[in-house]
Amino acid sequence: MDLGAMLAGKRVLVTGASSGLGENFARLAAGCGARVVIAARRMARLEALADELAALGAPQVTVLEMDVASEPSIEAAYAAIDASGGLLDVVVNNAGVSVGAYALKMATADFDAQMAVNVRGAWLVAVHAARRWKEAGRGGSIVNIASIQGERVMAAITPYSMSKAAVVHMTKSLALEWARFGIRVNAIEPGYIGTEMTGDMWDKEHGQALIQRIPMGRLGRPEELNGLLLLMATEAGSWMTGACVPVDGGHLCSSL
Ligand SMILES: NC(=O)c1ccc[n+]([C@@H]2O[C@H](COP(=O)([O-])OP(=O)(O)OC[C@H]3O[C@@H](n4cnc5c(N)ncnc54)[C@H](OP(=O)(O)O)[C@@H]3O)[C@@H](O)[C@H]2O)c1
Repeated sequence: MDLGAMLAGKRVLVTGASSGLGENFARLAAGCGARVVIAARRMARLEALADELAALGAPQVTVLEMDVASEPSIEAAYAAIDASGGLLDVVVNNAGVSVGAYALKMATADFDAQMAVNVRGAWLVAVHAARRWKEAGRGGSIVNIASIQGERVMAAITPYSMSKAAVVHMTKSLALEWARFGIRVNAIEPGYIGTEMTGDMWDKEHGQALIQRIPMGRLGRPEELNGLLLLMATEAGSWMTGACVPVDGGHLCSSL
């Protein structure tokens, strides 16, 4: 079964496509022949990525400004998607932020910002897609990017872990509600992967200590999520919904 070929011609939205995992998912989808819609706030980054994908032969790349912390921004982006080539087939709900601080030092504004993007933003992006699919009488696939932090905890990122646990529960609950409409909702739970979000922490002593606790003894690479993304996004996963699957070098089963 060629999962990549199953994505060819599909219309795929990737939020948070301006860097890291989202940029990787956009490259993957475009490389499979999907029509990609890449969204984020940093437009210069998206434009550069679009140029690169077009030069590599991507069939259609649409660049959209979308701040997932703002419902009007999400609505405007979906209106532009409607106007520029019709319904999506797949939504990769990837935009996310993380602020590190011990709970007693975490600013309330930082707590709110993580909830606004990681929870409310992911919710709104999913709901706006599902409304359109239901109205059109057809299904679709939503792949939420959760985290192993949605399953277990670590000090100094409590609001982030809370937000990802919410994404895990949202995935299961929306899968339950929308199965009758043919809308599948699944989540990838990545372990640690070097991106802008994690910055230079891996060069520091505590970062190296974290890596030692990963059973496979190394960080992941963004492309190591691609197999699962394709399974969840395409008809290869046609009976798969409500699944939250870790890809983490064994980190969730590390020794207690
Ligand atoms: N890297 C890891 O180890 C890891 C592990 C588990 C889960 N994750 C999850 O993977 C996802 C991607 O993270 P990453 O590691 O690739 O980090 P990243 O490189 O910092 O990417 C985060 C993306 O989210 C976008 N974003 C942030 N706030 C936004 C907003 N208000 N509206 C729209 N887009 C926004 C950013 O784009 P703009 O700034 O241009 O808007 C950026 O494209 C996140 O959900 C993260 O929680 C990452």
